[in-house]
Amino acid sequence: MQSDQHKIVNGLSPSRTESAAGRDAPALPTRRVGRTGDIVQLVYVSRPTLSLVEQDARQIAASSRRNNWRAGLTGCLLFTGTGFAQALEGRAEPVLRLYDRIARDPRHTHVRVVLEIGVKARAFPDWAMGFVPDFALAAEIGALLEEVACSPASVARLMTRMTADAFLGAS
Ligand SMILES: Cc1cc2nc3c(=O)[nH]c(=O)nc-3n(C[C@H](O)[C@H](O)[C@H](O)COP(=O)(O)O)c2cc1C
Repeated sequence: MQSDQHKIVNGLSPSRTESAAGRDAPALPTRRVGRTGDIVQLVYVSRPTLSLVEQDARQIAASSRRNNWRAGLTGCLLFTGTGFAQALEGRAEPVLRLYDRIARDPRHTHVRVVLEIGVKARAFPDWAMGFVPDFALAAEIGALLEEVACSPASVARLMTRMTADAFLGAS
C-alpha cells in the first residue's frame, strides 16, 4: 500500500463496464477503472450508535450504492457490532464531499480518518459499496478509535479483510 502512496491530484473518471463480479453480482451496475490515473482512498473508523444492528448496517451499504455509483465512488463498509470501518475511493472532490456527509450522520459517532492517500488503482473496482460483517474485528477497530497514533498495520488488516470478502454482502 505504501508504494502506491503519492500526492493526491484529480482522479481518473471511471468508465462503465459490465460487472465482472461473478455469482454475487450486485443489483446495480458496477464500475471498473483502468490501472492508470489518480484516485483517492479514504478509510475512516467510527462507533455505531447503540441501537444499530447488522441489518441496519447492511441497509446503509445497500442504500449507498446508487448514490456512490452515480458519483463514481466505490468502497466497502465493515461492521463489527461496535465499530464501523469504511473505505471510500474515487476522485478527491466527491470522496471528500461524501465523507463530510457521512461524518455528520447521527447513526454513528467518533468518526476518525485513519487513511487518506492517492492510489493508482482502486481496491474495490467492482463495488459501489460492499458490505462485510465481522464481529471478530471489534477490538481492531476499537484500538484504532482509542489510540492516539493509528497503527498502519491495523489499517492494512482492515483493508485486507474488506478486499477479501466485499462480495459476500454486496448483492
Ligand atoms: C456508516 C455509514 C456509512 C455510510 N456510507 C454512505 C455511502 O457510502 N454513500 C452514501 O451515499 N451514503 C452513505 N451513508 C449515508 C449518509 O450519511 C447519508 O445519510 C446519505 O448519503 C443521504 O444523505 P442526504 O440525506 O444528505 O441526501 C452512510 C452512513 C453511515 C452511518
